[in-house]
Amino acid sequence: MQGIKILSIASYAPETIISNDDFTSFIETNDEWITTRTGIKTRHLAMGMPTWKIGSNAAEKAIEKAGISKDEIDLIICTTITPDTLIPSTACYIQRELGMSGCMAFDINSACSGFVYGIDMAQKYIASGSVRNVLVVSSEELSKITDYTDRASCILFGDGAAAAVVAPSDTAYSSFLGADGRGADFLRATCINPVPHPFFELKNINHEVDENDNGKLFQDGKEVYKFAVSIMPFAVEKALEKAGLSVDDIDAFIPHQANIRIIQTAASKLGVPMDKFCLNIEKYGNTSSASIPLALCDAIEEGKVKRGDKIVMVGFGAGLTYGAVCIEY
Ligand code: UT7
Repeated sequence: MQGIKILSIASYAPETIISNDDFTSFIETNDEWITTRTGIKTRHLAMGMPTWKIGSNAAEKAIEKAGISKDEIDLIICTTITPDTLIPSTACYIQRELGMSGCMAFDINSACSGFVYGIDMAQKYIASGSVRNVLVVSSEELSKITDYTDRASCILFGDGAAAAVVAPSDTAYSSFLGADGRGADFLRATCINPVPHPFFELKNINHEVDENDNGKLFQDGKEVYKFAVSIMPFAVEKALEKAGLSVDDIDAFIPHQANIRIIQTAASKLGVPMDKFCLNIEKYGNTSSASIPLALCDAIEEGKVKRGDKIVMVGFGAGLTYGAVCIEY
């Protein structure tokens, strides 16, 4: 299978940092509960900076680090569940902000599996021979859709972005992606509060608006937790099987940063020591599709992931989606 290389990766975290204690003024919670149940200490919030801006801040740095010119990017894939607009795509706004034009640009929504799906899509485009360099930007502003009256979910989420420039290489590549729509209602946010249009009245159709369709994120935490602890090891094992590798061949695992307990359970099921898992959940909380590339970025900066290392990135999220990608960094 066509190999790919992450030429460069960079991240951007908005300035404002919210601590666990900051929640105690409006919900009944405490630092001890949040820390022990989730592993989160702080999260960054964009405070109104648009998703496309957070993403382009990361993308600008990634392109600079890649040492290529913007003209050499053939495709921009933005992964986001928090676009600023339904149309156009966030990728088009990012393209404009970067001063680029001409290359393909579109968004994908596979929730917290977004970066893994985006990398896999980049690999497929590269393998087709139609493109060379792909910019994958994972940008999220979850604070826009977080329900700050729901104490079980609002403490989890943060904002941030990371971007990677991906190019062809002769190294090995394998992936295993999937989705299980039966769990679609376990984690959801409606995009627009549906407003009855004049034809409902004209055609005498009663249109009730569900008060839960308020654009805010709803989560059945227990169901998502159960899914996560079984699907993460499953997806990793499947991706490794395709690559003909075992967990012992892998230098670092970069999991979706949703809950430290989920990662610990997945690590134990796989028989992998926790020190092989790259973590930054404590700093950023859950940033959906940005969480895996943010964790990869930090791991590279801290020297935990080095050139030539075999890494596995594994995500899961709303959909319910999941996926694991095995590449050489
Ligand atoms: O990327 C998206 C993927 N999403 C996820 O991966 C989320 C997966 N699920 C989880 O991470 C966990 O289910 C949560 C962190 C969301 C919740 O943890 P939990 O251990 O499942 O807690 P729970 O919902 O069972 O609640 C246990 C108790 C309850 O009190 P009682 O009924 O036992 O008296 C809750 O009301 O903890 C209470 N609780 C809180 N207490 C203090 C819930 N949220 C809070 C809070 N502070 N923020």
